[in-house]
Amino acid sequence: MQSSPHPPAFLCRRYPPNIEAALRERFELRVNDDDGILTPSDIARRASGSAVLFVSATEVVDRAVIAGLAPTLRIIATLSVGFDHIDLDAARAAGIRVLHTPEVLSDACAEIAMLLMLAACRRGFEADRMVRSGDWPGWAPTQLLGMGLVGKRLGIFGMGRIGRAIAVRARGFGLSIHYHNRSRLDPEWEAGATYHPTLDGLLLESDILMIAAPGAPSLRGAIDAGRLALLPPGAVVVNISRGDLVDDHALVDALRQGRVRAAGLDVFANEPNIHPGYRALDNVFLTPHIGSATDETREAMGWLLIHGVEALARGETPDNLLC
Ligand code: DGY
Repeated sequence: MQSSPHPPAFLCRRYPPNIEAALRERFELRVNDDDGILTPSDIARRASGSAVLFVSATEVVDRAVIAGLAPTLRIIATLSVGFDHIDLDAARAAGIRVLHTPEVLSDACAEIAMLLMLAACRRGFEADRMVRSGDWPGWAPTQLLGMGLVGKRLGIFGMGRIGRAIAVRARGFGLSIHYHNRSRLDPEWEAGATYHPTLDGLLLESDILMIAAPGAPSLRGAIDAGRLALLPPGAVVVNISRGDLVDDHALVDALRQGRVRAAGLDVFANEPNIHPGYRALDNVFLTPHIGSATDETREAMGWLLIHGVEALARGETPDNLLC
């Protein structure tokens, strides 16, 4: 990074006010004031001359953006744990360092995972609508019967930090934990969960499938029609990771037919233009990518990036450095 005490930086999205204030104290900051999502060519044009680029999961930082900004750009800092929107190979080749925000959002994401799981299993959308609409006829023995959790199997696809935070909470609901990762966790991290060496093996044993694997090109469409068919009939699907891990057409179809009983979704392919089929279904509970959206977490994410940039300026290697 430049030796200037206030290196030029560009902020692609609005951050919480105190984080923006901290950035202004440290950088000669230009801001995308209206907070609209910038295309790659917008970023290349508007951030030109920056030494530090602050992005989030909504900005695609591809090879062309990196090539356009490389003459001055030293650091890309993304306000996200996911980094599938950044071409790390291109950044590495250009000698640009990339920071992200692991750890600090695991609890918040696990909380939303619980919200989605409970709302999907207990028919949260229909229940809210019944009260809100004024159409509630009053209590009835057969009204809005859902799926209980005690004794059911939660299959966690992706048992990283967020997956493990989900497992801790899910045990409290009486669920038994199954998981699939590329490699088995140490017993300390596994905490009694059952490991499945293949994703297919996990699906066969999941009454509730929890998708918590990181977004990656190799996982795009991993939960497709064939895989959904492996779930026990009437299983529930929850996704808090990245929408493109799921084949939307296949999931909408399975939800329509009731082969998948319900879904809780916080992330979607092609956000915010989600598959229209979801909007028409009563058995889905939808949230707009709010996994990490708490005051505490957003602030912690901001500080993690600021401290990471400062550590790099001192010649240190911060824990949240991707490359
Ligand atoms: C993340 O941190 O990756 C969340 O999805 C928010 O972008």
